[in-house]
Amino acid sequence: MSQSSPSGEKDRSSLHHPRFAAFYEWMTQLGSSRRFTDPLRQELVGQATGVVLEIGAGNGLNFPFYDPARCERVEATEPDPAMLRYARQRLNQARVPVQLTAASIEALPFADHTFDSVVVTLVFCSVADPVQGFHEIKRVLKPGGILLMLEHVRAQGAVSAGIQNALVPVTTRLAGNCHWNRDTAQLLTQTGFHITQQRQLAGGLQPVISLQAIAPA
Ligand SMILES: C[S@@+](CC[C@H](N)C(=O)[O-])C[C@H]1O[C@@H](n2cnc3c(N)ncnc32)[C@H](O)[C@@H]1O
Repeated sequence: MSQSSPSGEKDRSSLHHPRFAAFYEWMTQLGSSRRFTDPLRQELVGQATGVVLEIGAGNGLNFPFYDPARCERVEATEPDPAMLRYARQRLNQARVPVQLTAASIEALPFADHTFDSVVVTLVFCSVADPVQGFHEIKRVLKPGGILLMLEHVRAQGAVSAGIQNALVPVTTRLAGNCHWNRDTAQLLTQTGFHITQQRQLAGGLQPVISLQAIAPA
């Protein structure tokens, strides 16, 4: 059952990682971090069209990059109240209307076939049930709607993947449930999505991919 806060946000949250949220807010403001991620966010988020759902909006770093020429409005969801506080402070950086709601990907509070585009950046490593998450995206996307994703994923080499496996107990504990070794693109295709574009942006122990996919008809 959802609850409404005084600001009207629905609370479906069971996640609360205040220390990770504070660390993430600090880290993502570093020049080195922004120089890498801002152009990627701009490119990916700038492709979102129509009525858009952003999942796991975190501290709201994507908000400035929605293009008012393409995007009508954004429903942004985030389950962690600590992240929501930072996201709320960035709402005024958006050039399109953004509505922020507390919700997890596993139970999105939206009707079937609501959205033209879904944006997810650096979220799927942390999601408790990623398969259910992709089913929810399928449900809320309109037929022909697009999914735009930026994720760090499982390393390809056996040694790097082995190191990732060994460190997962640490990253899940200290980095907001981050499963560093998750093969998100494989889970995406397993749930029926068709990847139309995929690009590898970094490699080694922390491969980063950007992709575009469409849900099955
Ligand atoms: C590393 S942060 C990324 C935040 C933001 N998307 C960005 O690109 O900076 C991961 C985010 O995923 C969110 N998250 C974790 N589990 C989730 C779930 N089950 N449903 C939705 N979001 C989730 C976390 O609360 C956190 O805000």
